[in-house]
Formats: sequence, structure tokens, C-alpha cells
Amino acid sequence: MNSISIVKKKKVYLTRKILEPASSLLAAKYQVSIHDSIRPPTRLELRKGIRNMDGILCTLSDKMDKKVLDEAGPNLKVISSYSTGYDHIDVTEATKRGVVVATTGDVLAEATADLTFALILAISRRIVEADKFVRRGAWKVGWMPNLLLGSNVHNSTLGVLGLGRIGRAVARRAKGFKMEVIYNSRHRLEESLEAELGVTYVGMNELLRNSDFLTIHTGLNQDSTNMLGRDEFSKMKKSSYLINTARGGIVDENDLAEALRKKWIRGAALDTYSHEPLTKGNKLLRLSNLIVLPHIGSATVDTRTKMSRIAAQNLINVLDGSGPVCSVNTNDI
Ligand code: DGY
Repeated sequence: MNSISIVKKKKVYLTRKILEPASSLLAAKYQVSIHDSIRPPTRLELRKGIRNMDGILCTLSDKMDKKVLDEAGPNLKVISSYSTGYDHIDVTEATKRGVVVATTGDVLAEATADLTFALILAISRRIVEADKFVRRGAWKVGWMPNLLLGSNVHNSTLGVLGLGRIGRAVARRAKGFKMEVIYNSRHRLEESLEAELGVTYVGMNELLRNSDFLTIHTGLNQDSTNMLGRDEFSKMKKSSYLINTARGGIVDENDLAEALRKKWIRGAALDTYSHEPLTKGNKLLRLSNLIVLPHIGSATVDTRTKMSRIAAQNLINVLDGSGPVCSVNTNDI
């Protein structure tokens, strides 16, 4: 008598509906469940969703901490995040459990650098203010000698905090604007790469004192949490601007609000916050020398589609043992 063996499909949980091709790539191989909503799962939903799964595809809105990981059964092999940042995942806890943590790596560097540059231009040339001015019918006189005067971007000094892939992509754009680029980073680049990019390494104090635009491109971790606060803002030029498309937690937002109110710096443009979404009563929203975006650094169709493919492929490569994984902890497992 022939025996029939039934191979059970592995189970995968997607915490949000994302652009294709992730769900079709995964559905072709696994039993897929999706938290099909525009909002992220609640803690309870997440803890329930992760149970008995072999793989999770999550987003940066899902806090994958010890409590959530405790709910996962022994089958869980991989958490693949639809993001480059992984500060929402307790990597130490995942590693202890032998769970691979994967990210979309550098694929969003160029899109995020584009948005960073858009913010540099928008805050210094007062583009958001100018648009509002026209729409509310305040433009009554035609050309005016002193209307909405801003600051030059060209020939100014750009300070880059964190010169990884995104920081470098911003530095390359800055060269087209004839900016001088200085940087501070955990690891200094090879001299040949510094020369190729046309960037100069400086200490943190020099970075703060000399930047006309200070742009943040470092990851969020214990060392970088609230790295920029009162002391740092008070060292910056009064005419300078802060740009943050990295993670909100790197900036002390209370101190930033004070610095903007008291005009220690001229303005700021943010895409990320310590708590997202920003709520209506947030004091940052009362400041007119601030541009606020809703965390859209990687939000182009092309980039988010590439991220989707990478996130799914990471998951497949771990579950099937079939290829390279963009992981942050494989070496430790
Ligand atoms: C990331 O991936 O870390 C970005 O912040 C969002 O796409």
C-alpha cells in the first residue's frame, strides 16, 4: 500500500497590506495571513498574529519586543521588516531565540536622499509657507522686494551626521549645489572615499558649529537616543537648519521646540518623530519655522515595490534556506 505524506505549508504573517509583489510571492509558497487594515495591528492583535508562525513580515510600526516574541512558538525562524531601520525589533531577544532579523537594506537610500534634499530646499526657501501664503489670498501686491526672503543652499555648508548609504547619497547631491560637506560618523571613511565624495571628517562640536544645514542619517540605538538636545542646539549657528529623515528619537523634541521658539536655530524640517503619528496637540505643530512630513522618506512607488520584493525574498531565503539574506544578526545565531 502506498503511503501518502502530507507536507504542511509553512505559516507566514504579514502585519500590514503592502505593495506587491510580497504577498503573491509568499502566497505561492506558504499559508499567508494578513492584518488587512490601514492601521498597524494593536499589541494584542500582534501577539495573537505571531502565534505558531514560521515567519513574520512586519513594518516599523510594529514593536517586536520580548513580550511579543514570547508569544511566538518554536517555529518562528525569521522576522523580515519592510524597512531599513530595525529599532522597533529587539534584536537581542530575537537572536537568543535563533530568529533571523532581516531588513530591506540600502534600497531606499536614494529616495530618502531625494526627500532630504527636498526638505533642505523647502525649509531654506520657505516653500511651504509661500504656498500657504498664495492659497490664503495674502498675495496682493505682485512682486515684492522683501517677500519671503530665505537662505541660500548653494555655497553653504552641509553637516552630515552619519555617513552611511543615505548620508553619502545626500552628500553627492550637495556637491551639485556647490556645498561644502562636513561629516561626523561612528566610523570614519577611508581617505579615498572621503576624497571621492568630497567630504571632510570633523568632530561633533565642529559639525554643530559650522553647519548651515545639519542633516541626520544615523540609526536609532541606545547611543543615539536624544543625541541632539539643548546643548547641541545652543552650539549651532543661529542661521542654521536641522533636517531629520532618520528617526525621531535621535532628537529631543522638547529641546528642539525650545530651540526653534527661542530662535537658537532658524528652522527645522522633520520626517520622523519619537512617537508617530504626531497628534494634533503636539507643541511642534505650533511652530512656523518647522516643516513636518508624515514619515515618507522611502515613499515612492518604485522604492516601496523594491522593498516589498526584498522583504519577501528575505523571508523565503530563510524559510527555504535558499539564498542570501539582508540580515542584522545572522552572524550571531
Ligand atoms: C525605513 O525603512 O527605515 C524608513 O524609515 C521607512 O521606509
